[in-house]
Amino acid sequence: MFLMDYSEGQGWHTPRIVPYAPIVLDPAAMVFHYAQEMFEGMKAYIAKDGSVRLFRPDMNIARMNRTNERLCIPELDKADVLQAISAVVNYEKDWIPTDEGTSLYIRPFIIATDAHLGVRPAHNYIFCVILSPVGAYYPEGINPVKIYVEDEYVRAVKGGIGFAKAGGNYAASLRAQAKAKKLGYTQVLWLDGVTRKYIDEVGTMNVFFVIDGEIITPALEGSILPGVTRDSVLALLRMWGYQVSERKLSIDEVFDAAKAGKLDEAFGTGTAAVISPMGELNMDGDIIKINHGEIGTISQKLYDTITGIQYGALEDKFGWSLKI
Ligand SMILES: Cc1ncc(COP(=O)(O)O)c(C=O)c1O
Repeated sequence: MFLMDYSEGQGWHTPRIVPYAPIVLDPAAMVFHYAQEMFEGMKAYIAKDGSVRLFRPDMNIARMNRTNERLCIPELDKADVLQAISAVVNYEKDWIPTDEGTSLYIRPFIIATDAHLGVRPAHNYIFCVILSPVGAYYPEGINPVKIYVEDEYVRAVKGGIGFAKAGGNYAASLRAQAKAKKLGYTQVLWLDGVTRKYIDEVGTMNVFFVIDGEIITPALEGSILPGVTRDSVLALLRMWGYQVSERKLSIDEVFDAAKAGKLDEAFGTGTAAVISPMGELNMDGDIIKINHGEIGTISQKLYDTITGIQYGALEDKFGWSLKI
């Protein structure tokens, strides 16, 4: 794993690759009490030509610093982070699986380490990068999932930390996720925290709906994580000439469209699955089926194109795939 320390006055220092091992912390370490923590999620792929590649790492690294800024964690040097990730991934490249759809998951994170019980930003931090081989997300083909529309619990609110990749957001999401699972649903559709009318995200993914020829994703207004996959999907759809909107989208608009036969596809986007089609939505017992529970043509085309670029099988017009 990669480790680097931060001490006030000294800045980030002592970058190193060390054997994977427990991190020993004082029980009063601030991360345990006030959750001053951030993380990222990305993957390394073995491309068709045998090279090791990252997908748009600049986007993850920029997001790291936006999260850091919001959580009062000291900024990282972007070039240093890319060098650190590239170094540890290359060091462990024999662990990158090569079967179709497999990759090496990369988890950079930062924790506040001061032994201090007063609430304030910490003066000391650890930046760490750990790795794990991951299997194909869809070993048996892409299966649309059932989604529960959550109208009690919320994930994040504008002004809070929803746009940041902070562990606290995920702790806040567990109760609703457990409720959905108990009811037989894979994930929850998150509504906005103020009115519970507008759609934010689905599970830990950004979300898209295809309604009457318009492809809609909620606008980024503070409560939504700006996904790298979301940005890539928007760029591809615009290049292909689809009508794309980033705007407010109410859950009622989606249900009305479905009942009028105008909801053609719905899918989540994220690093783990790339594209995750939704086959069913349940809002308080009102159930709609989407595209007969099958993956739609736009979802399939996006999945094939993004994975094709990630594995170097398709032309990379945007320069997204980085050989390291
Ligand atoms: C809450 C949340 N939304 C959206 C995403 C999708 O972001 P990305 O496409 O960068 O993986 C993630 C992470 O994967 C997430 O945790």
